[in-house]
Amino acid sequence: MSAIRPLRLFALAGLLAAPAAYAGDAKGDAANGKELFMASGCPACHGVTKEDNSKVGPNLVGVVGRKAGTTQSLLGPSENLKKYGVTWSAETLDEFLTNPSAKVPGTAMAGILTDPQQRADVIAYLSTLKN
Ligand code: HEC
Repeated sequence: MSAIRPLRLFALAGLLAAPAAYAGDAKGDAANGKELFMASGCPACHGVTKEDNSKVGPNLVGVVGRKAGTTQSLLGPSENLKKYGVTWSAETLDEFLTNPSAKVPGTAMAGILTDPQQRADVIAYLSTLKN
């Protein structure tokens, strides 16, 4: 047992060091992404029409291409989201949605998508939300 443990740790370290699967490599299906977005509870906290600014989280119209933490919401952007400061693209959204609090400590953003294909689909949907 004790002889196996270091090997396990080694394997785990290898896993952690491997580049995270990047949803940008997967082809996103926007229609499926819309369904996933609706089914994952995202609309409880995010508006997807220009008029809907009454949610706790930022409105997601035009999210692709804008800077993190620059959109007003009921809660307002957190200091850590502003500090994160990325411009939202397929790649940065993919990293963020994998585990938001890993990138933005203490964030109230509760949506997590652990499946790379689901992330790709949701990101494809978010890309259709244009100003
Ligand atoms: C419980 C509420 C809640 C849920 C559910 C939620 N979010 Fe969020 N989301 C937030 C909040 C609050 C922020 C702003 C975080 C901050 O300022 O740290 C945010 C930020 C974001 C951002 C960055 C927006 C920007 O303009 O910087 C994206 C993209 C996002 N969420 C997508 C999603 C997706 C996709 C889902 C569903 C899988 C989801 N969210 C579910 C509350 C939520």
